[in-house]
Amino acid sequence: MIKVTVPATSANMGSGYDSIGIALDLYNVISMEEADGIEISDVSGADIPTDETNLIYQCAKKVYDICGKPLRGLKIVEDCAIPQTRGLGSSSACTVAGILGANALLGGPLGQQNVIDLAASIEGHPDNSTPAILGGFCVALLEYGKVWSVRVPMNGKVDFITFIPDFELSTEKARGVLPEKVAHHDAVFNLSRAALLAGSLTTGKLENISVAVGDCLHQPYRFGLIPDGREVVHAARAMGALGAFISGAGPSIIAVVDAQDKTYLSRAEMYCAQNFPHWKPICLHCDETGARVEQV
Ligand code: HSE
Repeated sequence: MIKVTVPATSANMGSGYDSIGIALDLYNVISMEEADGIEISDVSGADIPTDETNLIYQCAKKVYDICGKPLRGLKIVEDCAIPQTRGLGSSSACTVAGILGANALLGGPLGQQNVIDLAASIEGHPDNSTPAILGGFCVALLEYGKVWSVRVPMNGKVDFITFIPDFELSTEKARGVLPEKVAHHDAVFNLSRAALLAGSLTTGKLENISVAVGDCLHQPYRFGLIPDGREVVHAARAMGALGAFISGAGPSIIAVVDAQDKTYLSRAEMYCAQNFPHWKPICLHCDETGARVEQV
C-alpha cells in the first residue's frame, strides 16, 4: 500500500496572480494499492465520487496510460483535511496524490519535473500544484506543457491565519468574473508588488508585506462573490496582520501574521464569533516538505 500526504496550498498571495503559491500544513492523506476493479472510500464517510469520475483515480489512471501500463483497478482510501472549494488547493492535492501514488506503484518512472509538469497540465494551476509537490513558497508558471518554477527560501517567521467561511466558491465561477483585458497601470501595479513580495519573503523584510500583497487584477472582482470577504480582510489588517488577501480563487482569506504575535488567533476567533459568525479562523504554517510518499 502506498500512502501519499499532500499539503494544502494558497495561490496568488494577493499580487502574484496565477504565479505565486505557498504550501500550508493542512493535509490530504491518500492510501492506494492496485486492486481488481475500483474501490474508493473516505475514512470519515464523506460523500465522494467512488467510480472512475474520482479525481485521484483519474490522475492515477493518466500516469498508467502515459507509461503504457494496463490498470486492473485501484483501492483508494481518502483522509482529506483540506476543505473543498475554499481556495486552499484541495483539487491540486488530489491531483498530486493520484499522480505520485500511481508513480510509486509503478516503481517511479516519472521524475520530479515530469510530476510537476503533469500536475499543472491536468490541474491548470501551477501556482497550486507546484508548491503542493515542492512545499514552501514557490513561483511557478506553465508554458507549452512545462512548468518553470523556483522554490524561494522564506526568511522570517510568520503564521498564516486562515479565515475559512462556511460557503463554497468554485474556481470556475471566480475566474468567470475577471475582465479579459486590464489597464497597463494595473499590470504594473501587480508585477511590481509580486516581485517585491518574493524578494521581501526571501530577505525577511516583512514590513514590505502590507504593500507587496496589494492587487488590482483579481481581488476587486472576486470580492463581489465573497459575502463579507472585503470586511474580513480589513478586520484582519486592523487586528495587526502584516497583510491579508483572498486565498487562491477564494473564498477563504489569509492574514500573514508575525509569529511573535501569540494572541492574534484568539483575537481573530473572538472577532469572528461576534462579527462574522460564518467565518472560522485557523492558524496554519508554511509546509516546508511538500508531498511525501511512503510504503506502508
Ligand atoms: N491562480 C488561480 C486563481 C488559483 O486565482 O484562479 C486557483 O486555485
